[in-house]
Amino acid sequence: MSAKKGSKPQGRATHAGSPRSRHPPGADVFFETPGLRIIHNDLLKTVSVPARSVDLIVTSPPYNVDIHYQSHVDRLGYEEYLEFSRTWLARCLRWLKPDGRLCLNIPLDKNKGGQQSVGADLTSLAKRAGYQYHSTIVWNEGNISRRTAWGSWMSASAPYVIAPVELIVVLYKDVWKKTRAEARSDTTRDEFMGWTNGLWTFNGENRKRANHPAPFPVELPRRCIKLFSFVGDTVLDPFLGSGTTLVAAAANGRFGIGIEIDESYCRLARERLARETAVHRGETP
Ligand SMILES: C[S@@+](CC[C@H](N)C(=O)[O-])C[C@H]1O[C@@H](n2cnc3c(N)ncnc32)[C@H](O)[C@@H]1O
Repeated sequence: MSAKKGSKPQGRATHAGSPRSRHPPGADVFFETPGLRIIHNDLLKTVSVPARSVDLIVTSPPYNVDIHYQSHVDRLGYEEYLEFSRTWLARCLRWLKPDGRLCLNIPLDKNKGGQQSVGADLTSLAKRAGYQYHSTIVWNEGNISRRTAWGSWMSASAPYVIAPVELIVVLYKDVWKKTRAEARSDTTRDEFMGWTNGLWTFNGENRKRANHPAPFPVELPRRCIKLFSFVGDTVLDPFLGSGTTLVAAAANGRFGIGIEIDESYCRLARERLARETAVHRGETP
């Protein structure tokens, strides 16, 4: 894994509560507006996110299923993958405030290249890294079109069972209950009732449309952000990809920080934010 040198930052307006004023930028800031920051770097190397500065992390890490990313090799040995996961989870924990939370979108199982209980393994790993466990949301993607492997077809010899779901594991740093008096939530009654039912059903994102090999749909960070953070909070995605989490953060009045190792994905995210949000016009949450 390597990060190339970042492009010149753009849109550097200052704002009293912006990521820029809250967190002094490092040389790896690729793009910045009053409400958003994209960091082009390896999340294990950047110094642009101070400790205890983030309210909510929403992210989907590489699944280690040989997806062809531009700058990340997605086919580590399983033990090496777990070690990578342990390292980045520990780094993210330091960035969270004491009442900060992590919504971790991961697979339930891995079938490609050997069966593994990825969901269970990463949840245990996160707990060992110091996170507290809160709950797990099951995301029903309703997508079985990728199904190609049946094991032994119509035979009990060695059938494969594949669940068309992913997990969003909800963890936190020290305390679950947020007690800030001035904080404002923005979920409607129906959203709150619907989303606190831990089975979420909506479609996955189309890779061609997103122009990225493994995007999640904006509905995923939108729900996590509205349910688990207050308006004006700082939301971080350390595996930004095509910028989905920042789109949801900007649309819902949160400050967004994204870290991405690949420069072409940073450009993709920046262009997408310009297209899909108002932040490029300097409007702040
Ligand atoms: C599963 S994708 C995230 C996709 C994103 N949720 C979206 O909607 O587009 C994982 C991303 O993490 C990036 N990545 C991999 N290793 C990284 C690292 N060490 N630091 C920062 N980004 C990394 C990859 O380039 C890839 O874009």
